[in-house]
Order: sequence, then structure tokens, then C-alpha cells
Amino acid sequence: MIVGSVLRKSSFISWMYGQFGLLVEWASGKPMDASAIAKPHDRLAGYLAADLEAVNSLIRTKMASEHAPRIPEVTQHLVEAGGKRLRPMLTLAAARMCGYDGPFHVHLAATVEFIHTATLLHDDVVDESAQRRGRPTANLLWDNKSSVLVGDYLFSRSFQLMTETGNMDVLRILSDASATIAEGEVLQLTAATNLATDEAVYMQVIRGKTAALFSAATEVGGVIAGAEAARVRALFDYGDALGIAFQIVDDLLDYQGQSTATGKNVGDDFRERKLTLPLIRAVSLADAEERAFWSRTIERGKQEDGDLDQALSLLAKHDALTYTKDAAICWAHKAKAALAPLPDHDLKHMLLDLADYVVERIS
Ligand code: IPE
Ligand code: IPE
Ligand code: MG
Ligand code: MG
Repeated sequence: MIVGSVLRKSSFISWMYGQFGLLVEWASGKPMDASAIAKPHDRLAGYLAADLEAVNSLIRTKMASEHAPRIPEVTQHLVEAGGKRLRPMLTLAAARMCGYDGPFHVHLAATVEFIHTATLLHDDVVDESAQRRGRPTANLLWDNKSSVLVGDYLFSRSFQLMTETGNMDVLRILSDASATIAEGEVLQLTAATNLATDEAVYMQVIRGKTAALFSAATEVGGVIAGAEAARVRALFDYGDALGIAFQIVDDLLDYQGQSTATGKNVGDDFRERKLTLPLIRAVSLADAEERAFWSRTIERGKQEDGDLDQALSLLAKHDALTYTKDAAICWAHKAKAALAPLPDHDLKHMLLDLADYVVERIS
């Protein structure tokens, strides 16, 4: 069903591009290449369609459980809502770019998506979030207990999946990444609500909770393909910088996004009193009166109606959203520069474009 809906969606997208292409050709009198219009994310999905279908099918098989019906209920709810499948695509792309033609990139991509899905289940409990992938969160529909335990189940399934590759290096990389993600989430617990949190701590948090899985996703693709050390390092660096850019953008969208586009509630980070980059910047430039506002709303958690609007106007006053966007652009540039040691390849161009796209989704 998942594969079916992915395929139906991609054929609809292709049809749309076809129609748009005809219109542009008609208007310009010149033939055009449909791949020039598709978003990098969709181009990657198109290029990797067969691999992605195998990943989706493996995910479907492994998320089932004969013994506890609550598991497929919760996992289906989350998995069928879609998700961009960004991380598994990174693994598939890295492996293919490095010439891999064995079967295990599919296991690794599914492992990465399982780790991601497990962290989302836990994250929505920790953040008390109500919306994910455009649907009510599992903690809202069922309860926290189900989300925590099904998250644990998915983590364990991810480890079973990666052992099937028989490759100790990928086991090490992905188990290290899982530990680092958990550390990042726990560090964020203590950094949130603390106005002394600075950009260095923020970087440590996002590198842990988000970029660690992006960099592991790209790195294991290179490792399973037996790529030389400099290329594996380049893939790691790309994933690391892309993950950082991605999380900075996610934190920006929490203030200026549309929940219809992000599938999540806007303003969650402020309500959760989380010190993300926009707030860290505004707090660093605050005068005494503004500091009192941040201290009341973030440190002491005494929020009232209208406080989110006041926070937004202080962010605007200090250009904190522009500053945040510039930081994301800078990391996207680093991601692109990191790919230099890799040889020319269609997938390399798509990964380069993807780095720009991660930031463009703001506007
Ligand atoms: C959400 O990641 C968690 C963050 C790191 C911000 P995605 O935005 O990739 O989530 P899905 O899988 O597409 O829903
Ligand atoms: C996402 O953190 C990182 C992980 C899931 C580990 P956030 O809490 O910032 O992400 P969203 O906004 O809920 O997706
Ligand atoms: Mg969250
Ligand atoms: Mg969180």
C-alpha cells in the first residue's frame, strides 16, 4: 500500500511536470528537460525508485509483529503518513554513487529510516507534540506508553536489520549514531529553558540529535560499497553539514512555517521553551526589558496569550530569523563543498541540489 501510494504519487508528479513542461515549451518555443523542474528530492526519489521500493517493502515486512497488535497499529499510522524518506535516500545515493551493486544498501536504508521513526515516536512524547506528518501524533492517538515501547521495538528492529549485512563497520557507525542521537536529545533537555544556552551548545545538540543520523546514513552507503577512505570521509562531512542545515531550517520553520506545509504545529518550540537558534540570537541582543520577557516565558514558563506574537516581534526586531537563515545557507554551502572529492555522477548533482533545496524550503 505504501509502495502503491508512493508510485501513484510519483506518477501524478511526473504527469504534472509533463503538463508544465508542455506549457513552457509552448510559451518559449523551445523543448525542455522535465528533470530541470522537478525538486531535487523528487529527482532523487525518481532515480532511486527501484531501490526505494525495495526499502519500503522491507520496512513494511519488518514493522509487523505477530505478538503485539499495538505495534503494527502505531507503526502503520506513522509509516503510512509518508515522511520524506530523506535519510534512506542518502544511504542509497551514497552507495550507488560509489558503485555498489549488492543487496545490503537496502537493509541499511531501512535501518536508518527505522532509527529515524523510533526517534520521532520518542521525540513527540518528550516534546508533547500533537501533530506529525500532517496527522495526530501516536502519543495523542494512543498514549505515551505505546509511543515509547513501539519506539523501542523499532530501535531493536533496526539493529536486527543491520546485523543482516554482516559488516562490523556499519554496525559500529549506526550504533554510535543511535547513542549520539540520544545524547543530543538529553543535552537539549538541560539546554532548553536555560537562557545561558549559546550557539556552541545549540550546535552540539543539533549535531547530535539530527546530523548524526544524516552523516551515518551517507557514511554507511560509502562503507558498504567499499569506497576509499577520502570518499567515505567526504560522504560523512556532507551528511553532517546537510543535517545541521536541515535542523536549523526546521527550527526556523517552527517560527515562520505553515503547519499545512510542515505537517507539524507552528510555535511548538516557543511553547516548549526550547532555545533554538532564533531565540538564542534574540536573547543575545536583548535589552533589560526584553530579557525579562524571555526570562518569564522561557526560563519560568509563565506564558500568556499574545506571548508568541511578542516573541515573533522581538525575533523580527533583531533580524534573528534572517540570521538563522544565513546560518542554514552557510551549512548548505559546507555540505556542497564536502562533496568535492567524489567523482562526477548524476547522483552527486542531485545531492548538491538537495543541499540548496533543504534551505530553499524556507521560502
Ligand atoms: C523530522 O525529520 C525530524 C527532524 C530532524 C527535524 P523529517 O522532516 O525528515 O521527517 P519526515 O520523515 O519527513 O517526517
Ligand atoms: C528532531 O528534533 C530530532 C529527533 C527526532 C531526534 P525536533 O523536536 O526539533 O524535531 P521536530 O520538529 O519535532 O520534527
Ligand atoms: Mg519534536
Ligand atoms: Mg525534540
